[in-house]
Amino acid sequence: YFLVGYYWSRLAGKVALITGAARGLGECTAKLFAEHGAKVIVADINGELGQVVSEAIGSANSRYVHCDVSKEEDVKNAVDIAVTTYGKLDIMFNNAGILDPFKASITDNNKIDFDRVLSVNVTGVFLGMKHAARVMVPARTGSIISTSSIASEVGGIASHAYTCSKHAIVGLTKNLAVELGQFGIRVNCLSPYGMSTPMVTSSGTTDPKTFKTIIDSYGNLNDVTLTTNDVANAALFLATNDAKYMSGHNLHVDGGFSV
Ligand code: NAI
Repeated sequence: YFLVGYYWSRLAGKVALITGAARGLGECTAKLFAEHGAKVIVADINGELGQVVSEAIGSANSRYVHCDVSKEEDVKNAVDIAVTTYGKLDIMFNNAGILDPFKASITDNNKIDFDRVLSVNVTGVFLGMKHAARVMVPARTGSIISTSSIASEVGGIASHAYTCSKHAIVGLTKNLAVELGQFGIRVNCLSPYGMSTPMVTSSGTTDPKTFKTIIDSYGNLNDVTLTTNDVANAALFLATNDAKYMSGHNLHVDGGFSV
């Protein structure tokens, strides 16, 4: 019973804020963190689904907060709500991200799509890091995790903007790991292979080189398909003290795809 108790309470007493937690990887991670005893702020722009996730966890342990990660006032507010509701912020998971239509040729791409992807995937992570640091530095503890992608290592599988944005997350992670280590704060990112989430399945991009095609054609490690739960478990590891000496890392969860 002791071992079971330990296993299921790896985040007991911790407070986590997860962006993009209304569905997909964020939803899965929010539920896993809560199962392990964390209080979870479900932050998203999709209030309908976000409320459902928060209610599934239970109102004693979770709260939905509307948060567009590309807007500083929203990110600041979400962090402040974590602190006012639960007293502190231990884990910041900058997970919200968007995919734009794959364009084989850069001349077919456009500035509006490029700027939109960077504003969510890069500026959103920057703002999450900034406001997490604001409350974690005085507390002298914390774990900041962001969702990058195999597109941080491999070109040609996603849009120019997406690939660029996921590389940028690795850079932000390294910079902040150096900066915040002295305060006992660890900063890491995750780079998953393709997972079957609404982002991929409803992307509507039918170009042969989309994520979906990649998943369908290469997505197995000895017939093992990557699930959101597999990636959520990697996030759980980075969030816990089990990863107490890991910082500045880009943890690949890709079955060796990017090696
Ligand atoms: P998803 O589309 O199923 O979920 C993303 C969530 O983010 C949604 O709930 C959406 O409402 C929310 N969101 C979108 N824009 C937002 C904004 N401006 N502010 C706040 N929330 C916003 O996607 P999925 O697959 O769960 O993606 C999660 C992360 O994983 C993303 O960063 C994505 O780039 C990354 N990723 C996904 C892979 C995949 O194959 N699904 C592979 C590698 C990385």
